[in-house]
Amino acid sequence: MRLLVTGGLGFIGSNFILHTLNTYEDLSIVNLDLITYAGNFENLKEAEAFGSRYKFIRGDIADRKLVSEIVSTIPDAVVNFAAESHVDRSILDASAFLKTNIIGTQVLMDCCRDRKISRFVQISTDEVYGSLGPSDPPFTEANDLKPNSPYSASKASADLLARAYFKTFGMDVVITRCSNNYGPLQFPEKLIPLMITNAIQDKELPLYGDGMNVRDWIHVLDHCRAIDMVLRKGKSGEIYNIGGSCEYPNIDIVRLILSKLQKPFSLINYVQDRPGHDRRYAINANKLTDELGWTPSINFEDGIDQTIKWYIENEPWWRRIKTGEYLTYYEKWYGGLRT
Ligand code: NAD
Ligand code: DAU
Repeated sequence: MRLLVTGGLGFIGSNFILHTLNTYEDLSIVNLDLITYAGNFENLKEAEAFGSRYKFIRGDIADRKLVSEIVSTIPDAVVNFAAESHVDRSILDASAFLKTNIIGTQVLMDCCRDRKISRFVQISTDEVYGSLGPSDPPFTEANDLKPNSPYSASKASADLLARAYFKTFGMDVVITRCSNNYGPLQFPEKLIPLMITNAIQDKELPLYGDGMNVRDWIHVLDHCRAIDMVLRKGKSGEIYNIGGSCEYPNIDIVRLILSKLQKPFSLINYVQDRPGHDRRYAINANKLTDELGWTPSINFEDGIDQTIKWYIENEPWWRRIKTGEYLTYYEKWYGGLRT
């Protein structure tokens, strides 16, 4: 299989590329990534060992000419990870979110439709469903879309476009909606890596609001395995929820990290809440389990231990990000960062 992966220099994309290259000898991947602040070459240093099975192209999924050229020569299937992914940034300025997450997805799907690409996997998120109350059942694929942030609104828009391309053009599209990922290579602006790295540095841990917002955590490798299964066996036009059935309030996560690193709880700093902050996410992934046989394999206790260990052992990786040093590579290689 020849796969086009977009956004492969980011957290989940890079884990997916390494996982699938290691799993399938007959797979080759082209990674199209714009290299925004979230794209990091260091994430895929290991991929160089795969020689001609891995190729990187720098570019924008919203660049129709480039995408059309790539799609006409390379892939049997496309997995679209490329996105602006951080809710807080979308609150500050939604422009890039609309351009990449909506227009970019449209351009990519147009090109795939025109070239009759056999499978298009749209990587979406549980945030499109909005927020749950404390006793609501977890989201199923039948829940309404009620996004509350500019980020989730842009992802929901892309999901609706994907549905429309299936219905109108008969394009082979599948959508995945996963809950909060954690694991190696996650950019330290997201809760878990931010809190681990701040704790190691004895910096304050900024906890939004009352710290009681709940997220449903899944290890990134379990997400990658699920995507691979949907790519190969998912039914065209379907949506598949992916989740770890592992709900924790943020305060519990932060206390757990501090305890494991033997740091004092006094590092926790309650700060102003995120505007429109979704209270609770929880995913029902029964459809994926019943129809495709997927179950998560990494329990949170083991996964968080491994993740903390990874951040301890890879301090140069995250320090280069936190100081901004990683951006200097782009100056050298590509004449600068695209935002
Ligand atoms: P990330 O921010 O770590 O990485 C995004 C990648 O996309 C970066 O490498 C960036 O350079 C690239 N990119 C951005 N704009 C681009 C463009 N216009 N053209 C090409 N490349 C571009 O994101 P992530 O956390 O790895 O998330 C990947 C996908 O998974 C996103 O679509 C996100 O919505 C979805 N998702 C994330 C989570 C999570 O917990 N992180 C959960 C569910 C779904
Ligand atoms: O649910 C899937 C989504 O998970 C993905 O679609 C998004 O791309 C991904 O960023 C993530 O969104 P969240 O907003 O849930 O993740 P974040 O790590 O930003 O925040 C997790 C929780 O922690 C949330 O309730 C806000 C809180 N938080 C976050 C940060 C960065 C804090 O309390 N303090 C912080 O500094």
